Amino acid sequence: MDILIERADGVLTITLNRPDKKNAITAAMYQEMADAFFEAEKDASVRVVLLRANGGSFSAGNDLEDFMKAPSMDRDAPVLQFLRRISTAPKPLVAAVAGAAVGVGTTMLLHCDLVYAASTAKFSMPFVQLGLCPEAASSLLLPRIAGYQRAAEKLLLGEAFDANEAMNMGFVNRIVDAEAVDALALAQAKKLAALPASSLRMSKSLMKGADAREIAERIAEEAGHFGKMLTAPEAREAFQAFFEKRKPDFSRFE
Ligand code: COA
Repeated sequence: MDILIERADGVLTITLNRPDKKNAITAAMYQEMADAFFEAEKDASVRVVLLRANGGSFSAGNDLEDFMKAPSMDRDAPVLQFLRRISTAPKPLVAAVAGAAVGVGTTMLLHCDLVYAASTAKFSMPFVQLGLCPEAASSLLLPRIAGYQRAAEKLLLGEAFDANEAMNMGFVNRIVDAEAVDALALAQAKKLAALPASSLRMSKSLMKGADAREIAERIAEEAGHFGKMLTAPEAREAFQAFFEKRKPDFSRFE
């Protein structure tokens, strides 16, 4: 099973469990995660959602084989269901990140409340490198969190950066050794789970409420462009180059 769901002590844990593909996320995995968020919203015994991964990498982002099939970016597409759930989750979300966090592996963190990173964490948003554009409202959230130039460097060049830089940018709370990151995130999640759920919901909603509509609109706007760019020759060249283990050649495109 590529996604594992576990409930204990008020914490619903979603584990990315496709280590042989560095936890690249397929449409089926987005759907399972979206459904888990929906369950978490309905189930009063769930106080907090914890996102983590098995195998030493958080996620290599969207599955590039899926991208080659030019999946729908309609409102009901699994990825958009997932983004809607994570961006509107009323309960606190805690993430534990180790190793690679590529593309949505990084942008999903912008929607989490507490993010704990291992010193091995490596973040990147190589959308432009793939002939694509930012998603998950990262074009809105990252400049707000990190400042425009820092966001532009990460979103335009797409190069990987480490946990220290992510913490300085403002979307990582704390960095610990790789062996300690899951335990820390779980301990923090359990602390939240013991607090009054209604106070947590109200506090989160007060912090996030004013931006909610803008975020939803930006996710939809980005998805419209992203869907078209997936079938453009630049992206096809980038995906093929990845699987052929070579550098893409964009020189023939205007
Ligand atoms: N989609 C599909 N398969 C992927 C994948 C992805 N996003 N990322 C990695 N894989 C697969 C590789 O094809 C490889 O499969 P194989 O063993 O059958 O050849 C396996 O996972 C291991 O990947 P590999 O590249 O050998 O691992 P690495 O440790 O050298 O590098 C990454 C790890 C994550 C840095 C690298 O795999 C990578 O850059 N992946 C693509 C990330 C990406 O562009 N995501 C989309 C963002 S929008």
